[in-house]
Amino acid sequence: MQRREPIGVFDSGVGGLTVLKHIHQLLPAEDLIYVADSAFMPYGCKPEAVVEERCVKIAGFLAAQHCKAIVVACNTATAAAVHRLRDACSIPVIGMEPGVKPAVARTTSGVVGILATSGTANSNKFKLLQQRYAEHAELVVQPCPGLVEEIEKGELASPRLLSLLEQYLQPLLQKHVDTLVLGCTHYPFIMPVLQEMVGESVVIIDTGAAIARELERQLQMRDLLADGGGAGQTRFWSSGLNSADALAHLWGEQVSVAHLDI
Ligand code: DGL
Repeated sequence: MQRREPIGVFDSGVGGLTVLKHIHQLLPAEDLIYVADSAFMPYGCKPEAVVEERCVKIAGFLAAQHCKAIVVACNTATAAAVHRLRDACSIPVIGMEPGVKPAVARTTSGVVGILATSGTANSNKFKLLQQRYAEHAELVVQPCPGLVEEIEKGELASPRLLSLLEQYLQPLLQKHVDTLVLGCTHYPFIMPVLQEMVGESVVIIDTGAAIARELERQLQMRDLLADGGGAGQTRFWSSGLNSADALAHLWGEQVSVAHLDI
C-alpha cells in the first residue's frame, strides 16, 4: 500500500511550487505534501550547516507523514543537504542542481549565464558541476541576493525586483550569453520579466519538468507510482505565519496552509 502514500516536496518558501506544478501535472494521481520553510527563508544567504539542519528537520517531518519519496525543490538546500538526507532516509530523495548540462548542450555562442543564490554559487557541489562543464562553455555565474525576498512577497515585477535584475543581468548580457540557467526554484516565477529583459533570442533553462520526470522514473523503478484511483490531494504546510496568501497567489488557487512548528 506504499503506492498510496504521499510525495513530500519542500523549499525555503514558495519557490518549490514551480517544481510542484510540474509534479502535479505529470503525476496527477499522487497525493502531495508541500512544505514551505518560510520562517527560515531565504536559505541562500545562510551558512550551509544552518540550511542542512533545517533540511534534516523537514525531512524528518515528511518521513513522519509516511512520504514514499522526498523532492528537495531547492537548489540551495540540495547543495547543502542532499547527501546527508540520502544517508538518513530509506526512501528516495530527489535533489536539484542548476541546469548547466542542458545549457551547455544548447548554447551556440559558447557563453552560458547562471543565476543562483549565493549559497548555491559558493557551494562545493556547484563548483564541481562547473568544473565538469568548464571545458565545454564559458560559464558566467551571477549570485542574486534579494530576488527571493521579492518573489516571496508575490512581487513579480516590483521596482526593486526590476532594478536588482538590471544589475544582475548586465554582466551576463555584456558577455553575450545566449542561454540562461535559472539556478533557483523561485526564479521561474519571474520568467516573463527575465525573458523581456534578456531578449527573445536568449533561451532560458528551468529544470522543474526534468525533476518531475526523474521523480516518476525513481517511483516507477520501485513500483511506487500511485495506480489510478482518481486525482490526488495536495496539502500545504509552512513554518511561517504569514505565507498563506503568497502560497495561494502563486499556486493559483485558494489553499489552506497548516502551520509547521519545527
Ligand atoms: N528556492 C531556493 C533555491 O532553489 C532558494 C531560495 C532561498 O534563498 O531561500 O535555491
